Amino acid sequence: MIAARLNGPADFAGWRREARRLALAGIRPEAVAWLTGEDGADLFATERIPPADAESAALTVPRRFIELAENVICHRDAGRFALLHRLLLRLQREPRLLEDSVDPDVARADAMARSVRRDLHKMTAFVRFRAVSGAGENGPFIAWFEPEHFILERAAAFFTARFGTMIWSIMTPQGPLHWDGTVLQLGAAACKADAPDGDAMETYWLTYYANIFNPARLKPQAMKSEMPAKYWRNLPEAELIVPLIASATRRAEDMVMRAPTQPPERHVRQLRRRPELSPDESAITSWQEAAMAAQRCRRCDLHCNATQTVFGEGPLDAPVLFVGEQPGDQEDLAGRPFVGPAGQLFDRAMREAGLERSRAYVTNAVKHFKFQLRGKRRIHEKPNVGEISACRFWLDLELQFVKPPLVVALGATALRSLTGHAGSLASARDREMALQDGTPLLATVHPSFLLRLPDEEARSREYARFVADLERVGQRILRH
Ligand code: URA
Repeated sequence: MIAARLNGPADFAGWRREARRLALAGIRPEAVAWLTGEDGADLFATERIPPADAESAALTVPRRFIELAENVICHRDAGRFALLHRLLLRLQREPRLLEDSVDPDVARADAMARSVRRDLHKMTAFVRFRAVSGAGENGPFIAWFEPEHFILERAAAFFTARFGTMIWSIMTPQGPLHWDGTVLQLGAAACKADAPDGDAMETYWLTYYANIFNPARLKPQAMKSEMPAKYWRNLPEAELIVPLIASATRRAEDMVMRAPTQPPERHVRQLRRRPELSPDESAITSWQEAAMAAQRCRRCDLHCNATQTVFGEGPLDAPVLFVGEQPGDQEDLAGRPFVGPAGQLFDRAMREAGLERSRAYVTNAVKHFKFQLRGKRRIHEKPNVGEISACRFWLDLELQFVKPPLVVALGATALRSLTGHAGSLASARDREMALQDGTPLLATVHPSFLLRLPDEEARSREYARFVADLERVGQRILRH
C-alpha cells in the first residue's frame, strides 16, 4: 500500500497536494492508505508516492469539483479520500462528469457534501455558550457540540466573526476550539462534563433567544426536521416556558444582543476594504456556479445577519427576467425569492395577466434580507446604494447566463440597480427603456407597494394598473 499523509481528518490542502501526486504517478485509489493521524490508519502502508512521470499532462478539474471536495473532505466516511481520488481521475477523461447527478460516484459525493453542509448549519445554529464561573462580560464562555462530521475548522470562521470580541471555547468529542479574542486553537478531545450546565448568563441567553424568536422557525414540523433532539440538550432556550426575566441589566442585555446583530468592527472594515473578486467569484462560468458562489457572498455586510443568500430562480431560457428589491422574512427562511405575501400577490397578478410564473426567471437586486430586529419581529429595511451596487455583481451574472429578451424592474430599487436611475418610478413606468447592452427594460411597481396602500379603492386601482403592466409584458414577450 502507498501511504498518503494528511495533517488531520479534513486537511483539504493536504489531500489536494497528495491526490495530485498520486494521480500524476498513475496510482489507483485502491492502492492508497490515507493517514490522517487518527485511529483507523493502515500501519502497514509505508510505501512512498513515486515521483511523477515528467511527461505527465497537467490535471484539470472544474471549479465545482473543488467546492464539492472541500465539503466531502469533512465527511466522517473513511472512504471519502478514495472517492475524491477516483473522481479526480475520472474527471480527466470525463470533464462533464459532475453534471451527471445519477452517476454513483457523483451521487455519493453530492450526498456527502449535503450532509456536511447540514452539519455546518446545525453547528452555527445550535451552539449555545455559557459563562464559566467568575467570567466577565466578555467571557470566558464555553459550549458543547457534537458534530457529525469533521467540520470544526470550517465552522470556526463563523464563530470568530460573530463572537470575535469574546473569549470562548467550543468543546466537542473531536477536540475543542479555543478563541482568545485573537488566536484560534484546536485542542485535544473533550467530554461533555467540561462544559458547564447552567449559570447566570443563561438568563441573558434566554432573553436573547426570546427576542430573536421567529415563529416560522418553531413550527412543529420545522422543529422536527431542522433540530434533531440530540441538539436540544445543549439549548438553554428549550426552557423558554420559564417567564422571561425582565430585570436583566441594560448593559448585559446589550452585550448579548450586540453579538449576533452587528458584525465585529474589525470584520466590517475588512469587508469594506475588499477590492477584488474572491477566487470563487473569478472562476464562475455557469449559472449553477454563480448560484453556489453567491451562497458564500461577503461583498457587503448583509450576509452577517441574514439566514442565507436568496438567489434568483426560474428557467435559464426564460423570455422575461423580473427583478425585485430584496428577499423578505419568508424568502430569507425559505431561500427562494417572492414566496411571502408580496410573492403571492405577484403570482396572482401574473395569473390574471395570463403569464406563468414558472416560465419567468425571478430574482432580486439584493440577495440578502436586510432587517431591523424589533422585539421578536424582523422588520424589512431598505438596502442602501452601497449594498445595491455590491450585489449588482450577482445580478449581472444572472443577466449574463439567462440572457432574457426582456427585463422587468419591480420597484425603484430594482430600477436603480439596473440603470442607476435614482428618480421616481413614475417617470420610468410608462416607457420602454434598455439596459446598457440593449436588452429592453420595463418598470412597474413592486407588489409590496400594493400591500402597503391604506385604502381599498387605491389598492384595487393600483392592482389593476399592475396587472395591465404585466399584460404589456406578455404582449412584449409574444412579439419577441
Ligand atoms: N420582496 C422582494 O423584492 N423580493 C422578494 O423576494 C420578496 C419580497
